[in-house]
Amino acid sequence: MEVIVHQDYESVGRAAARIVAQTLNSKPNAVLGLATGSTPLGLYQELVRMHREEGLDFSQVVTFNLDEYVGLTKNDPRSYYHFMRENLFRHVNISPQNIYVPSGTTDNYHAFCAWYERRIVESGGIDLQVLGIGSDGHIAFNEPSSSLGSRTRIKTLAKQTIEDNARFFDRLEDVPIYAITMGVGTILEARRILLLANGTKKAPAVAAAIEGPITSRITASALQMHADVTCLLDEAAASQLEMIEYYRWVQAKHPGAALRVSRPHFQRQIAHRMN
Ligand code: GLP
Repeated sequence: MEVIVHQDYESVGRAAARIVAQTLNSKPNAVLGLATGSTPLGLYQELVRMHREEGLDFSQVVTFNLDEYVGLTKNDPRSYYHFMRENLFRHVNISPQNIYVPSGTTDNYHAFCAWYERRIVESGGIDLQVLGIGSDGHIAFNEPSSSLGSRTRIKTLAKQTIEDNARFFDRLEDVPIYAITMGVGTILEARRILLLANGTKKAPAVAAAIEGPITSRITASALQMHADVTCLLDEAAASQLEMIEYYRWVQAKHPGAALRVSRPHFQRQIAHRMN
């Protein structure tokens, strides 16, 4: 895994946006996997800015969101659909028919989940998946004990997740207990994954995900099995990483590696060392 530590939340968002923009510039019809929550807000703000000021084009982009609360309609201000519309979709030139967010109100969840999986495959698969991480180490709504091979399905939320997410609701009792979520197996099929995290509250989960054993107790740890994961962290989220000096050393040796700009330089360096 490529671990990059940034000074603060704002630089994490800007760095993530540069990677998304680079993906869109090299493949204008890229398929993006998108996340909700406070973490990716900075990324979305920067993408909106890049669209307005630099002409970043979303006209051919297809997006699949990770998850949605069961029981909330698209127009419910607490739904993830609403979050995405307000924070990204309505500010950029994405086609409404290219936006996929799991439905929180379908009358056949089983059929919907199978359809969602099929749509991802028919769209060519996810090129770049953006992820946050829950304080219990979950990705999307894959709570501890989720199968690491799981597909899109309904999950019962953990108490900790309900408490963490209660800030978006008036009362704790209003937080839905169920969510529809891409599975860990679905996520692992993305070609590239960007894991974003900020703040000390995430530090234990981040350390467990990156340096701990691969375990369904921390579903983000399954990312260790993926060949192309970039973790963008702020200092606080990185504060419990034991190998932090190594990550900094790699970062110093290969600045811009996440943007894939230094590959030829990297190749030359390796060739030079081997001769
Ligand atoms: C929810 C979402 C996750 C997100 C997590 C962290 O559980 N399902 O996709 O990563 O919250 O959210 P935040 O970024 O607000 O800390």
